[in-house]
Amino acid sequence: MTPSLTKESLIKESVTKESTAAYSLEAADGSKVEPLDIDRIRRDFPILHQQVNGKPLVYLDNAATSQKPAVVIESMNRYYREYNSNVHRGAHSLSDKATAAFEAARLHIAQYLNASGREEIIWVRGTTEAINLVAQSYGRSQLQTGDEIILSQLEHHSNIVPWQLLAEQVGAVIKVIPINEKAELDMAAYRQLLTDRTKIVAVNHVSNATGTINPIIEISRLAHATGAVVVVDGAQALPHLIVDVKALDCDFYACSGHKAFGPTGIGALYGKRELLEKMPPYQGGGEMIERVSFSGTTFNQLPFKFEAGTPAIAEAIGFAEAVRYLEQFDRKALQAHEDRLLARAMELADAVPGLSVIGQAQQKASVFSFLVDGLHPSDMGTLLDQQGIAVRTGHHCTQPLMDYLGIPGTSRASFAFYNTLEEVEKFFAALQKIIRLFA
Ligand code: ALA
Repeated sequence: MTPSLTKESLIKESVTKESTAAYSLEAADGSKVEPLDIDRIRRDFPILHQQVNGKPLVYLDNAATSQKPAVVIESMNRYYREYNSNVHRGAHSLSDKATAAFEAARLHIAQYLNASGREEIIWVRGTTEAINLVAQSYGRSQLQTGDEIILSQLEHHSNIVPWQLLAEQVGAVIKVIPINEKAELDMAAYRQLLTDRTKIVAVNHVSNATGTINPIIEISRLAHATGAVVVVDGAQALPHLIVDVKALDCDFYACSGHKAFGPTGIGALYGKRELLEKMPPYQGGGEMIERVSFSGTTFNQLPFKFEAGTPAIAEAIGFAEAVRYLEQFDRKALQAHEDRLLARAMELADAVPGLSVIGQAQQKASVFSFLVDGLHPSDMGTLLDQQGIAVRTGHHCTQPLMDYLGIPGTSRASFAFYNTLEEVEKFFAALQKIIRLFA
């Protein structure tokens, strides 16, 4: 980077170079895709254009939470300014308007995930709540002592602990799919773990710690052959991949708005209708009932049966707006751009002494987890932050994975489509400087 440039122009420089460079992008399937106008895209994200610790912000913590385009922020603002009202309840026009927007948001998410209908989409606070819902509703009603739940070594705590709670409640047994040295699932071991006692297979689509993309279609096919249902933690997949629940043939798919450029506090649980129909409610309260008396209660139809209390209305509207924002792009081009950022990071990593990349799966999303000899990941995070570079450090809520790898944690740079090659290069320049000074 030219030292004489001002800080403001550094931001401009980094985006302009990328958007005007003549390069061709290749999608994962080998087809050519139109390069993205990153300059224009970055202008949609107000937060990116600021200085942190006196340096232009380089935001590489997208796996923790993604940034929000202005249209998402404005859609929520508009709800509060113009038609804030409770949904499904009011006898007035504002409530009708809020209900229509809220239900249109649900339909939009259903269509985006290729669900069969809006009743297959349950609003939840996020992926964690979605998985807890499946564990406590489906799991508790369907599993018996001795039944088996298969998880993987790559899981986030939110796809481990709900199943441990369930296993204790019903006397089920948890089994774990091991990984190979690249942090890919050992599919031969998975086949061996499946038995006629397997009732649930719960795996992530993309690992938040290593970026591994798991073969969900194959996992589902094998699970279904033994009669088990498949629960997918899609938190990290939604921002990177085109998610088609029919093609994946999973039974449940859990995701969060905030990982995919939408707000916090909202997520969606997709469930196959016939499974959701036979599941008991997860929480009790208003909205989820049909008729209440002290002698008993009958429950509302899908999807409301699972939605007790006033929902996160603005957030649902914001989540759908995030999806609408994504739909304007050729998703293959977004993926190809992220792959290019990751490939550049892997290439630059080769030249950094003492750096090891944690997770080198063949199929990998743009998550770059690493360790540097002689430097604790949390110190690395602090030193990068001093240079305006935001990463996450620690165990990434995957302590069993870190224990298996024999490491305390990692530093993790996670890229989104609004990141640039120049940002990746800045990140490595900062890394080299840190290693020179401190390692
Ligand atoms: N699960 C989120 C992450 O990986 C918070 O950072």
